[in-house]
Amino acid sequence: MTEFQTEPLDALRSYAGARRPRRLRRTAALRDLVRETTLAPDDFVFPFFVVPGDGVRNPIASMPGIAQISVDTLAGEARELESLGIKATLLFGIPVTKDALGLESYAEDGIVQQAIRALKDAGPELVVVSDVCLCEYTDHGHCGLLDAEGYVLNDETLEILGRIAVSHAEAGADVVAPSGMLDGMVAAIRSALDGAGFERVAILSYAVKYASAFYGPFREAAEGAPRFGDRKSHQMDPANAREALREAALDVEQGADALLVKPALGYLDIVSSVRERFPELPLAAYNVSGEYAMVKAAAANGWLDERAAALEVLTAIRRAGADLVVTYHAKEAARWLQGSGA
Ligand code: PBG
Repeated sequence: MTEFQTEPLDALRSYAGARRPRRLRRTAALRDLVRETTLAPDDFVFPFFVVPGDGVRNPIASMPGIAQISVDTLAGEARELESLGIKATLLFGIPVTKDALGLESYAEDGIVQQAIRALKDAGPELVVVSDVCLCEYTDHGHCGLLDAEGYVLNDETLEILGRIAVSHAEAGADVVAPSGMLDGMVAAIRSALDGAGFERVAILSYAVKYASAFYGPFREAAEGAPRFGDRKSHQMDPANAREALREAALDVEQGADALLVKPALGYLDIVSSVRERFPELPLAAYNVSGEYAMVKAAAANGWLDERAAALEVLTAIRRAGADLVVTYHAKEAARWLQGSGA
């Protein structure tokens, strides 16, 4: 050892002697012991895209591993979720016919209503969350009724959202999840549900949903892309953070039982600030289709280790403060977690 090295090294040793965070990273068991954020299958919500027909399984090209499926396949799906320890599903429906008013959205024998019944028959314990929005049901692909200029009418649409929620509750949904970002949607749905005797059905509000480019693959899956225009007059501007707290506060006031932030990965700051401001409510975050597609595409090219990357993404969303993560990776992640015993 040269003289030149000795003195600084001694100084460093005495400093580091008391401060060596690496001590707790030395072995896998030590790391397990001090891990702050856990990931388990019952943190996940797995979405289904349900289509009319029998024995249908249409893979969605931009979401490898995910398919549009028909109602008859749901019993098998419910068993699979159960065996993986996943406790909840989020349902989207693609109707037989679309029209300007989205009439099938609240039909008693509509596609989602049938799907809810099938899932509840197959696995009464499975938590069924249903998406409440008009975009999959309207021929123009917008989230509500439109005026002559193509503006989504707010209060006129609220009444329909209430009917959709009641029809889902009648079919047996445990939780309804309004995703349209209309003002007053939680209050309208709460009063419609209570008026119909469904005070036990919970509302998970997409309280903070951004007008994001990362919904692209979903729109292929749900066939709900707007035919013209965009959703910027109701979904939030990705540049805004303080406004998210206002949106969340309004939904809490209106009686939301749980909140959701969407997308998740580019919005971890929002997840964290909503968690901090409303610590008493369960918080979900939606790891959306484009976020899933990015990991899948990179993995398919051999550019990322999919398992490690996906588990890191899900852990990051939980670390930011989400209790629940809606994710297309749910089944694979549950298998990876079972396999590793983590
Ligand atoms: C609307 C809805 C969308 C998503 C969930 N619900 C699309 C949109 O707002 O345009 C996107 C989910 C995803 O990208 O995975 N009902």
